[in-house]
Amino acid sequence: MDTSMLSLLSPFFFLLISIFAFLFYSLLSILISGRRKLPLPPGSLGWPYIGETFQLYSQNPNVFFASKQKRYGSIFKTHILGCPCVMISSPEAAKFVLATRAHLFKPTFPASKERMLGRQAIFFHQGDYHTKLRKLVLRAFMPEAIKNIVSDIEAVAVDSLQSWDGKSINTFQEMKTYTFNVALLSIFGKDEILYREELKRCYYILEKGYNSMPINLPGTLFSKSMKARKELAQILAKIICSRRQRRGESNDLLESFMGEKEGLTDEQIADNVIGVIFAARDTTASVLTWIVKYLGQNPSVLQAVTEEQEAIRRCKEKVDEDKFLNWADTKKMPITSRVIQETLRVASILSFTFREAVEDVEYEGYLIPKGWKVLPLFRNIHHSPDIFPDPEKFDPSRFEVAPKSNTFMPFGSGTHSCPGNELAKLEILVLLHHLTTKFRWFMIGPENGIQYSPFALPQNGLPIRLSLRT
Ligand code: HEM
Repeated sequence: MDTSMLSLLSPFFFLLISIFAFLFYSLLSILISGRRKLPLPPGSLGWPYIGETFQLYSQNPNVFFASKQKRYGSIFKTHILGCPCVMISSPEAAKFVLATRAHLFKPTFPASKERMLGRQAIFFHQGDYHTKLRKLVLRAFMPEAIKNIVSDIEAVAVDSLQSWDGKSINTFQEMKTYTFNVALLSIFGKDEILYREELKRCYYILEKGYNSMPINLPGTLFSKSMKARKELAQILAKIICSRRQRRGESNDLLESFMGEKEGLTDEQIADNVIGVIFAARDTTASVLTWIVKYLGQNPSVLQAVTEEQEAIRRCKEKVDEDKFLNWADTKKMPITSRVIQETLRVASILSFTFREAVEDVEYEGYLIPKGWKVLPLFRNIHHSPDIFPDPEKFDPSRFEVAPKSNTFMPFGSGTHSCPGNELAKLEILVLLHHLTTKFRWFMIGPENGIQYSPFALPQNGLPIRLSLRT
């Protein structure tokens, strides 16, 4: 067909698509309004099936969310990846969905992700099974439990930093190794060193397929990933078996999962161990990467953090037998802690989360129909000028005053909020203690680009050159 025919056909084609779209959405509205006499939230659903997927993914997703919010307000509808969605960006609506009416909104993930991580992992569940898992995970990650592993985390941090000395490194890749090793330490205790390399080899193949097309044919990333997933389960079965021989000696996550009365099967334990590694690693590594960037770009903040950490170091040098960091030391780091908070806010690495309405829900006079996805937009809340004045500015001092409730939720909120948040903050503080007191670094290459993979990250993982302070 020649191009002149195409140009004649295209207006006709668009007219047909428009009529089809109009009929499709009129029918959808009639069906929905027949169920309840409430309007849907404002917004546009785009083209049939593809909806507004291209608008979302052809640009920085945060531009899409921010422009929609500007046009329609803090609750609006859209249609992404074949699913009608309601996006919400007010603290009150986020609290409604995630905490006060959490039973009306279940977590939802693509089936391929569930297969890869393991269907019995905590994220995918509601109700009694979820409550039981949550109790076990919290038992291993609450301050009382992680207090005892501060010096072990410190050893991992010191090892990592020493291996970067004098080299150009990709910050994100190196931070991923650090956070992976800390995750294994918190799951398997001191045994982790025995399994580190084996687990790392399989886990790294698994993660490569996580964002690939879910096509399970020989040679595809997805199929390699599924193979690695099976191998991981076998390694974990071996670890669980050897732990059974000497139960009661540790208080790590594996021990918590293996409690007699908890009655978890080996498969449930394996799915949740892999799930925790997944939840713990890239999240914490990207926050650390952003911190390195913000400290590098804000010399006065870096100086204040360094002075705070040097004061702790001097104090410890006076007491010979107590030179390792302990839990109490990490509570004497208010400036560094505010840098972490401000990084979590500005970078908002998890811009949003997903839920699905389990029944028709009314919110502020609007209908959220059963089966629709609901996305609380954390980033929009963290970047609202009404809540955080001059929101794009990196200014840790804003956290000298505690934020109002439900306005700051980098670790989520309610029944599925992050049970690993204390561990994440602890491992960041410990690494920053050694990074700022012993090392200097500078960024190589562009300083302002951002990539989405899927977390927001400094361009190319932030290449830096790092060396010991003289
Ligand atoms: C700075 C790093 C981290 C950030 C920003 C973060 C953020 C979050 C957020 C926002 C959620 C809730 C998601 C939702 O409601 O859909 C979550 C859940 C979760 N996180 Fe984290 N997380 C971090 C580190 C960790 C670590 C270190 C661990 C484990 C040691 C962990 C384990 C989990 C688990 C198991 C869940 C699921 C909880 C449930 O479904 O009940 N996270 N995280």
